[in-house]
Amino acid sequence: MDVVSADIERCFTQFFNRKPFMVRAPGRINLIGEHTDYNDGFVMPAAIDKELFFGISPSDDHRTILYSMKYDERFEVDLQNPKPVKEPRWANYILGVLFQFINNGYSVKPFYCAFGGDVPLGAGMSSSAAMECGFAFALNEVNGLAVPKLKMIKMAQWAEHNFVGVQCGIMDQFASVMGKEGHVILLDCRSLTHHYFPLNLQEYGIILCDTKVKHSLVDTEYNTRRQECSSGVNILTRYYPEVKSLRDVSLTMLEKHKSELPGKVFNRCLYVVQEIQRVQQAGRDLEKGDLRAFGKKMYETHEGLSRLYEVSCQELDFLVKEAGQLNEVLGARMMGGGFGGCTINLVKNDFMEAFIRHQTTAYKKAFSIDMLTYRVKVVDGVGRV
Ligand code: GLA
Repeated sequence: MDVVSADIERCFTQFFNRKPFMVRAPGRINLIGEHTDYNDGFVMPAAIDKELFFGISPSDDHRTILYSMKYDERFEVDLQNPKPVKEPRWANYILGVLFQFINNGYSVKPFYCAFGGDVPLGAGMSSSAAMECGFAFALNEVNGLAVPKLKMIKMAQWAEHNFVGVQCGIMDQFASVMGKEGHVILLDCRSLTHHYFPLNLQEYGIILCDTKVKHSLVDTEYNTRRQECSSGVNILTRYYPEVKSLRDVSLTMLEKHKSELPGKVFNRCLYVVQEIQRVQQAGRDLEKGDLRAFGKKMYETHEGLSRLYEVSCQELDFLVKEAGQLNEVLGARMMGGGFGGCTINLVKNDFMEAFIRHQTTAYKKAFSIDMLTYRVKVVDGVGRV
């Protein structure tokens, strides 16, 4: 059963014996631009109707209590000294944000908070950003703080880096906060300037196929990729002092110094430099309504993520290959950090049912797993319910 706002509100009322203030925070999809955000590149995400809901209210006994509906777990917070905990791990997303509010001098009063929702965990739809951003928004509202949105985004990202341990880029938090109904965001992760494109997919639609696997080491591998990118940058900076990140690197520069970069590092950099260019071209494809060209780039992105960046897995590769055999599918690729989670597919609307049948049957036969699919709507970023 999908947990919706009303369930959280009811649960909060039973648990804390009062009416909460309600906040919603969406997960995200990303059309194209993967692993480019922490390289100062471009991304094209959108907030979706898979959301977390937060009930929050001031407490009257000086205690601060969190309640996770999913885990049916309660956690009492030391408001004077929020620090990372071993268990429950879900509390760290919240504690990190709380730490940032306090550290930035915002005055936070004791509160009760219950949350839950239907963003699938580990499926690459960014439940963690929804958690951080939803809580930041809720905390801001309940304390009447008027924290600017960009500040909330950065505090949420900080929480992920320092209390969760993933050195993520800014895409997920940005999308969860800044999403706009019916639009995708073309975000320049260096300047943080962004444009909204109406998501006009003509007779096509987006559908996600969930592999239902999440291979271990995903967080470690993510951080390793970041290091590999920056070691590439460090080598190139010797020759090009103006290079601050892979955003400043061209294919020619990279090829010229190929022999000086360790093989893996070269491949990681090559993928990122290509992907940064690809997203910019993909934006122009979308503007022109050239979905065929856009879809082709999705396949190219997948190829790069799989062969050069090595963050795919056999389940994701399988689903993209299967999708690629169908004429009614314009594009498919793995989405998000990788090592499991979902593929994102651009599929003709009147073929959707057949597509689901085809993918589900093939996947079951190959991996004995019942694949899940999600048709998502693009919604506004975090807000009051
Ligand atoms: C995760 C991170 C994002 C981004 C993607 C890959 O979702 O949180 O910052 O790097 O992976 O594009």
